[in-house]
Amino acid sequence: MDLLITGAAGFIGSALTQALRAAGHAVTALDDLSVTSPRPQPEHLQVRDVRSLTSEDLDGIDTVIHLAADKSVPRSFDIGGFEHNITVDRHMIHTFAASRARRLLMASSCEVYGQQNGPLSEISPHAPRSPYATGKAATEHLAAIYRPLLRTEQQIGIVRLFNTFGPDEAPDAVVPAFLDAAAQNQPLSVEGDGGQARDLTHIDDAVTMLSRILNSPQLLSVVNCGSGRSVTIRALAEAVIRVTGRGTITHTTPRTNEIRSFTADMRLFTTVYGPVSFRPLDQSLATTIRDRSRVWTKPIGARL
Ligand SMILES: NC(=O)c1ccc[n+]([C@@H]2O[C@H](COP(=O)([O-])OP(=O)(O)OC[C@H]3O[C@@H](n4cnc5c(N)ncnc54)[C@H](O)[C@@H]3O)[C@@H](O)[C@H]2O)c1
Repeated sequence: MDLLITGAAGFIGSALTQALRAAGHAVTALDDLSVTSPRPQPEHLQVRDVRSLTSEDLDGIDTVIHLAADKSVPRSFDIGGFEHNITVDRHMIHTFAASRARRLLMASSCEVYGQQNGPLSEISPHAPRSPYATGKAATEHLAAIYRPLLRTEQQIGIVRLFNTFGPDEAPDAVVPAFLDAAAQNQPLSVEGDGGQARDLTHIDDAVTMLSRILNSPQLLSVVNCGSGRSVTIRALAEAVIRVTGRGTITHTTPRTNEIRSFTADMRLFTTVYGPVSFRPLDQSLATTIRDRSRVWTKPIGARL
């Protein structure tokens, strides 16, 4: 299959590019490198802004996997991140609709659910609590607006990713921040009381799920992509201390509009794409520690 991945130098994009190429797919990897990182870039990376793509650039491409974004929730409260993602996603949808490509798979986020009780299913309403989440919700609405305008063989699918972690994740996210603190025998900073829960998926499991979607003849309009298991941030910190044998916990001020719990309802994914054997948390943390030092040997100049 001929694929285009945007955001291909990013955390998820680089892992997905590598896995799909290893599986024999022809992957065009594109990223404007606006988020810098020492993570190895995919070979033959096209350094380019998504907003410069034309429909002719998609000639010969069957499926576009659109991951490019500024994913920082806190930064989206400043001017910039929200507007960036909206214009990038709008351009991607518009360009795809005018192209000969057949499928567009777009990355949305569990953040669109906001504060709700219980496992979050795809029919739960949008209740965004940040500009970032509002942008992702707007993208989902744009996709719905464009669907009836597409050629019959064209489809747009939305995948709502939950928190993904792994060795190549940038150090500002909670898992690497805890691992780095423990490695330096520093306190692990838990925001608020630490009772907020997150659905954590190891990158290898996320890549498995995305590959299942891409290899299936069925592209769902919206599907969750998480583990279906959530862990509180305090329990995560305790797991990091258990696995590393180092570190202590300290509490800091809670984040603006913090969401109490994210847990994916994975029934739709499992029914359509099959069950996934998720790695246990302690095991995923251990492999993340083992593989992490090969990339994150020094602080980065990321804009996130
Ligand atoms: N990582 C997670 O846990 C998670 C959770 C929910 C949703 N998502 C979504 O999944 C997608 C991928 O996330 P990630 O963790 O790999 O993020 P990332 O920040 O590691 O990668 C995003 C990449 O997009 C690139 N980019 C940004 N704007 C661009 C543009 N205009 N043109 C070309 N490239 C551009 C950046 O340079 C970066 O390399 C994002 O859309 C994100 O919002 C991620």
